[in-house]
Amino acid sequence: MDRVLIIGAGAAGSVVAQKCAMDRETFQHITLASRRLVSCEKVAALCETPIEIAQVDADNVEETVALIAQVKPDLVINMALPYQDLPIMDACLATKTHYMDTANYEPRDVAKFEYHWQWAYHERFKEAGLTAILGCGFDPGCTNIYCAYAQQEGLFDEIEYIDIVDCNAGDHGKTFATNFNPEINLREVTQDGRYWKDGEWIEIPALSIRTMIDYPEVGPKMSYLIYHEEEESLVKHIKGLKQIRFWMTFGEEYIKHLDVFKSIGLIGLEPIKHKGMDIIPMEFLKDLLPVPSTLAEGYTGKTSIGVILRGTKDGQPVTKMIYNVCDHAETNKEVSAQAVSYTTGVPPVAGATMFFKGEWSGAGVFNVEQFPAKPFLEDVAKRGLPWHVIDVPTGKQDELFEVET
Ligand SMILES: NC(=O)c1ccc[n+]([C@@H]2O[C@H](COP(=O)([O-])OP(=O)(O)OC[C@H]3O[C@@H](n4cnc5c(N)ncnc54)[C@H](OP(=O)(O)O)[C@@H]3O)[C@@H](O)[C@H]2O)c1
Repeated sequence: MDRVLIIGAGAAGSVVAQKCAMDRETFQHITLASRRLVSCEKVAALCETPIEIAQVDADNVEETVALIAQVKPDLVINMALPYQDLPIMDACLATKTHYMDTANYEPRDVAKFEYHWQWAYHERFKEAGLTAILGCGFDPGCTNIYCAYAQQEGLFDEIEYIDIVDCNAGDHGKTFATNFNPEINLREVTQDGRYWKDGEWIEIPALSIRTMIDYPEVGPKMSYLIYHEEEESLVKHIKGLKQIRFWMTFGEEYIKHLDVFKSIGLIGLEPIKHKGMDIIPMEFLKDLLPVPSTLAEGYTGKTSIGVILRGTKDGQPVTKMIYNVCDHAETNKEVSAQAVSYTTGVPPVAGATMFFKGEWSGAGVFNVEQFPAKPFLEDVAKRGLPWHVIDVPTGKQDELFEVET
């Protein structure tokens, strides 16, 4: 296996294509397809070895089937938007092709991040002898694999509490911009928060719980409890879990803009009339905001993303953090991308390598924590995302552990 079709030539898809093109031993045939050919042309010009490009509307199953039939990839990596997950999975089933993505399906008309739509494909992929690998970005992706690593390598006998902590301490110099697709990002952060405790999902108003978290190489940052899709799969796959929460940092300016967008209805998903035309406010807002792939130039600072795990080992309480730090300026120098696109785009390349080498295998639909973690982490580290494991001493991260949830 060595043929890959990447769909979606956006900020993160560009990183996937460039990193595959740096490893022709693993990826002998690379095709990048997107809604607009011009997006593919821009990425192809950045690749250090030649790749094929194609135009496809991945909402259209027949078009995608025709493209897959022509390219004959071993694996399709979906780097378009979550809306395209199901049509691309349908096209993979129709052509007997393996599938991978970095974000779970969500319907266009309501911001709901749930795996049930994609998990419902399990039997069909299994019967066809095909593999679908879900959520192989950074979070979801590396964060799931960090938890799996702690479980598989015996760092804990039981992991009881997981806090996934995501900090972007970078500065892109814009008044307001999102680091990945604005529509998907704004839908994610403005929905109600949710976390899992003692077997139940608990909903909270959006951004209503916050705490200071001390991030490696970055320092203490105000972090907000939001819902994130990997919580749903980790609850299923980490044994003995009592609680899982997800925290993300937002600056005051970002929160101020969100409040204004929300209060005047700019993030609405229902169509409104404008000069006799139906427009969806969120789509209009998206068109006003900077495209994430244009943020890289001049971006300074770092991302610091990881998991803080509490549990027991040999009857003793243990607290560990597993994380990666990534520098915006360095990723821009390497692949003309900011660190959020880089941390999203490098893991699918490592995941595809695991799949091609047979380290990750199985028929059906899988989340990444169901596969061996260590070979993936060793591979992704070589490609630019090293992981670190540290003990969290007593007294550190106290605000996080004491926040009432
Ligand atoms: N797991 C993680 O860590 C993580 C983190 C961030 C983002 N993500 C996910 O990564 C994905 C890409 O994010 P991004 O920041 O790269 O977004 P982006 O820059 O907006 O790129 C998305 C690309 O998808 C293409 N596209 C949209 N609709 C399409 C269609 N119907 N058919 C074919 N191509 C289509 C667009 O192509 P054109 O340019 O050709 O129009 C666009 O370039 C999203 O699903 C996002 O949720 C995951």
